[in-house]
Amino acid sequence: MTGQSAQAQPNIALIKYWGKSEISSNLPAVDSLSLTLDSLHTQMSVSLRDDLNTDRLEINGAPATAMLPRVSACLDTVCGKDRARASIKSSSNFPIAAGLASSASAFAALVVAADRACGGGRDRLTLARIAGRASGSAARSLYGGIVTLNKVGAEINLQEIAQPNEWPLSVVIAVTEEGPKSVSSGEAMVRSAETSPFYSTWIDRQGEDLDSAMTAVAERNFSALATVAEHNCLKMHSVTWTSRPPVVYWKSATIACLETVRRLQSDGCPVFFTIDAGPQVKAVCLPEVLSTVENALGNTTGVKRTIVSGLGSGARALD
Ligand code: PMV
Repeated sequence: MTGQSAQAQPNIALIKYWGKSEISSNLPAVDSLSLTLDSLHTQMSVSLRDDLNTDRLEINGAPATAMLPRVSACLDTVCGKDRARASIKSSSNFPIAAGLASSASAFAALVVAADRACGGGRDRLTLARIAGRASGSAARSLYGGIVTLNKVGAEINLQEIAQPNEWPLSVVIAVTEEGPKSVSSGEAMVRSAETSPFYSTWIDRQGEDLDSAMTAVAERNFSALATVAEHNCLKMHSVTWTSRPPVVYWKSATIACLETVRRLQSDGCPVFFTIDAGPQVKAVCLPEVLSTVENALGNTTGVKRTIVSGLGSGARALD
């Protein structure tokens, strides 16, 4: 029996991946840019076992059948279809399937653990491409700090454009709901592409947002990054709101958090918001205003709790 463990942290997209150019290979329709976090994590262990007839998955100690087919398919890609069945155990120190990028950290950790379990020794980019087939954003969690993902032909490439210590940004996550989201991001992306009248504009204008964000990162220009990240986030959500049927991930507390961020900004506080496929608001700020931002969001109506993080490293094996 071989058992291997790995850990990965979620990442938060500032320039969002939303839409697939090929559903079967899960190839993203747009390039993206994200921050890999440090304080939230998923740990995953994979044991290949000749005594099992089927794969078994436990998430935070409970059997998880809904997620199993995606996990098994990912293991097939890493270890081959004729592999032994696996016992997979996953634990996260934050709510899963609630717009906190738990699938990103889960699949990033899974490919690293599975590669070790079947002795693959693959490089990081190869593992990132495999993780990306399971969850587009997972590819970015193989990398640390500020990460770009570019589509090149039928493949993706990734790059760390700033290490955590080169631009130590802070993140406050305002948790407004702990439960799973209503519509999965994969399903919502397909619906957006098929029905939103704004989808083609979203695709066409992504390159200019990514260029602006990369320039802002290279120049460590916080206000330029804030402007383009908020714009890109609101554009992505405009696409989901205008899909049929509409996909609205926001709750009233989500909007209350945006108002809090606007008030902080008008007081001169270096902070901006972003929102993924869920109701949580992620506020990115400079470390010197972290406690101000955390207090303000923690006291916002409807916020259940806040989680604070800095930037962290990419997925790694645990010995
Ligand atoms: O990787 P997925 O399928 O969970 O989709 C992620 C979608 C967003 O989080 C909304 C955006 C992103 O780039 O992470």
